[in-house]
Formats: sequence, C-alpha cells, structure tokens
Amino acid sequence: MKLLILNGPNLNMLGIREPDIYGSETYATLILKIKDYALERGFEAEYFQSNHEGALVDRIQQAFFDGVDGIVFNPGAYTHTSIALLDALKAVKIPCVEVHISDVATREEFRSVSYIRQACKASIIGHGTHGYLEAIDILLDK
Ligand code: DQA
Repeated sequence: MKLLILNGPNLNMLGIREPDIYGSETYATLILKIKDYALERGFEAEYFQSNHEGALVDRIQQAFFDGVDGIVFNPGAYTHTSIALLDALKAVKIPCVEVHISDVATREEFRSVSYIRQACKASIIGHGTHGYLEAIDILLDK
C-alpha cells in the first residue's frame, strides 16, 4: 500500500503560522509523526508540499503513473478555489481523503466551500494534525 501525503500552500509554515489556529507542531514534525505511523501500520508513503497549484496538479498526475493507492490531501487555501485540483483527482481516480487541521466549517464563510470534496471519499476536519492519521486509517481500512 503506497500513500501520497500531499500538502498545499502555507502548510510548510506549520508551527509558525497562526499557532492559535493550526497549533505549534512544525511541518517537519508532522512528517516524522506520519513516518512513525507508516512503520507501525506497515504502509509506504511519499510526501509532497507545494505553494503552487500547478505543482500539486502535476504531483497528483504523477501519483497515477507511480501506482499510488491513496492520497491524503490538505490543499490549504486551494481547497476553496481550485477546480484544477478537483479535476486532477477526478482524472486519476485515486481514493483521496481531504484533511483540514482547523475546523473550516466554523471559520470565515469562504472556507466552508471545498471544490475537491466531491472527489474525496471522506473529509477529516478540525482534528488538528491527528486528522492526517485518521485519513490514513480510512485509506488503509478500505
Ligand atoms: C486549512 C484550512 C484552509 O482554509 C487554510 O487556507 C489552510 C489550512 C487547514 O488545514 O485547516 O491553509 O486547510
């Protein structure tokens, strides 16, 4: 089982950006936590973060050719704007779980829209970085 852990803009700034909303854990620590979980649960993972929409589209397409079995995806602000990311997920048909660290449903109105949601089998919202592990569980237990 090979998973892609995909993060969009500003998620590389975890631990620095708005810690009252996103917590104090850094991106590097999050990745280490997922690596530990990979050892524990016996899956292979690839990690990619980009601040650029096209780079995220490219990485989703590459996942198809690499035989990736599932995608854990926090698209950051592109969640609320990107039809291109939705189309990429629809094109590759790789099972995807959407993750948001914060509870986007209780924040600004514009954060309640998710374009990618219709191409995702589940959404984990507002569970902090633990949400990534929950998303992995959903993909592993399919
Ligand atoms: C986020 C929520 C988005 O609205 C925001 O733009 C982010 C992070 C989250 O993980 O809570 O960058 O996806």
